[in-house]
Amino acid sequence: MGFLEVAKKRCSVRSFLPREVEREKLLQVLEAARVAPSAVNLQPWQIVVVQDTQLKLELYEAYPRDWFAKAPIVLVLCVDHAVSWKRHDGKDYGDVDAAIAADHITLAAADLGLGTCWIGAFDETKCRKALNLPPNMEPVVMLPMGYPAKTDSPDRHQIRRKSLEEIVRWQ
Ligand SMILES: Cc1cc2nc3c(=O)[nH]c(=O)nc-3n(C[C@H](O)[C@H](O)[C@H](O)COP(=O)(O)O)c2cc1C
Repeated sequence: MGFLEVAKKRCSVRSFLPREVEREKLLQVLEAARVAPSAVNLQPWQIVVVQDTQLKLELYEAYPRDWFAKAPIVLVLCVDHAVSWKRHDGKDYGDVDAAIAADHITLAAADLGLGTCWIGAFDETKCRKALNLPPNMEPVVMLPMGYPAKTDSPDRHQIRRKSLEEIVRWQ
């Protein structure tokens, strides 16, 4: 698949088959995150791979949606604020770095026929508690991942995205 094809194939999947994800595929997805760029190449992230049923139940407390509980894997991207780059005005680029790594993951997963969904609306305190994270580690995004039970229509970007005219300013 060409890049644009992969980018258009990726969509938020909120329904998963009860099918295990092969370890080889999981490792490929994680490798895509490993090679992501980051400010000053500090790579201030950790990716927590949650497959354990009990731990997934604890994460469900942080994002109580039935479909989320059915994902075979949840990847939690955490940023280490003790490591992330701070600009001269204090802006912390850790979230940006984590978001880039997360996007690599979602695209690599789509390329391999896997589905993911960005989850930002979770309870941070409950997520932290479930994963026993130290204060410097912030969970930025949770990515449930598995084989999709259904797929979105291929022309959905024509309908659900702004046009280039709306988002690009040529100068
Ligand atoms: C930063 C971010 C946070 C998001 N948080 C959630 C979330 O908490 N729950 C959810 O169901 N979808 C969440 N989404 C998914 C968006 O709703 C989705 O990407 C958007 O509607 C476009 O649809 P698509 O991903 O299928 O192209 C999030 C997406 C992003 C990028």
